[in-house]
Amino acid sequence: MRSFTEESNFFASVDPEELAERFGTPLYVYNESILRDRMRSVMGMITKYPYTVNYSMKANSNLALLKIAKEEGLNCDAMSEGELRLLQLAGFPAERIFFVPNNVSDEEMKFAADSGIMVSLDSLDQLDRYGTLFPGTECCVRINPGIGAGHHKKVITAGKHTKFAVALDDVETVHEIAKKHDLKIVGLNQHVGSLFMQIDPYVAAVKSILDVALEFPDLKLIDFGGGIGTPYHKLTGEEAFPMQDLHDALEPVLDEFVSAYGYAPLFKSEPGRYCVAESAVILGRVYARKSNAGVRYLGTDVGMNVLARPSLYDSWHDIEILRNGKSITTGETEEITVTGNICESGDVLAKDRTLPVAKDGDLICVLDAGAYGYSMAYTYNTRVRPAEVLLSTNGSVRLIRRRETFEDLIALQCDTTEF
Ligand code: LLP
Repeated sequence: MRSFTEESNFFASVDPEELAERFGTPLYVYNESILRDRMRSVMGMITKYPYTVNYSMKANSNLALLKIAKEEGLNCDAMSEGELRLLQLAGFPAERIFFVPNNVSDEEMKFAADSGIMVSLDSLDQLDRYGTLFPGTECCVRINPGIGAGHHKKVITAGKHTKFAVALDDVETVHEIAKKHDLKIVGLNQHVGSLFMQIDPYVAAVKSILDVALEFPDLKLIDFGGGIGTPYHKLTGEEAFPMQDLHDALEPVLDEFVSAYGYAPLFKSEPGRYCVAESAVILGRVYARKSNAGVRYLGTDVGMNVLARPSLYDSWHDIEILRNGKSITTGETEEITVTGNICESGDVLAKDRTLPVAKDGDLICVLDAGAYGYSMAYTYNTRVRPAEVLLSTNGSVRLIRRRETFEDLIALQCDTTEF
């Protein structure tokens, strides 16, 4: 049996058992060098033309990680006022933030515009609303390139069945609305969906938005979106996304566009998962084993509230079993269903998984948990959200978010008569 944590020296000189004892489980553990490595890799997607990466912070919005993204020279995209405010707290200046919201209020648009942040509008109505608020200004428009991709229908954000972006058929109306409010469309963006391991859908979508771009003179930026996948089946040999192939495939496409357009606007990508997924694991504790109707169950504290992806999308996360701080790679295996401690039958982390035989008190280590892990964690069953620690490149262990407390959970509850 392979062990990613051993092969990548994930825990370096730190004993995961000590981490679990000191900070409690479940616990999100981040590895700074893996994080920086992936961020650098995506910076190499386009090299010939002006290019920046917008880290999509919805994947993980911990301030410590945002600051690392900033140090690495990444920009960020944000989806809400809350995300914008976090980026400001992390020290991102307005020109390094791109607001790409969906169905937002005037207040949220005003917050961004008043902060000097570029906004992209993702429907004709939102564009009209923005134009009414800020006539004569610059903005961007999110285009649906007609091509969607992703690991589950819930995360495909372009093509026919989606609430996102302006359909290709409506591009003419974009020009009319812009004219009405004297808006200058200075950028186009798209996002086809999340998690694909082949380059083809991305390249096809790039071609599609570049065709649309020809209808917009004077663009300052074109953002090709995120969605670049990470190998969630790495223990059985799944390879990394072929970033170099994507680079090589995009170059002639961009060459052709630039020569037709007359100049190269700033090209952008918007990856979330690719940057952070592999940089984190969740450590959880085994608290029970049982069999029911011939099915074995492993009972742990990594519930659907800690990692929502398996229950939402049937997502696969590789799992290692750790005993005395070491990943078990030899000995007997068994087929077992790994569950959490939440009062739902859907609280299943991994179904019928072949794993080393685990016993009460062992640790489970859930791989590739850095993206859409903590950022989608919740407090159902009045369970607190876990702590997060960062294994720094200098060997130190930094607590970057404390475990929530019961007091945190009830802090918003009140009983006041307002009307
Ligand atoms: N840009 C926009 C406009 C997006 O909506 C998203 C993700 C991204 C960029 C980044 O996508 P990424 O590179 O991370 O695939 N919770 C789901 C994924 C939802 C993605 C939503 N939008 C999951 O856990 O798989």
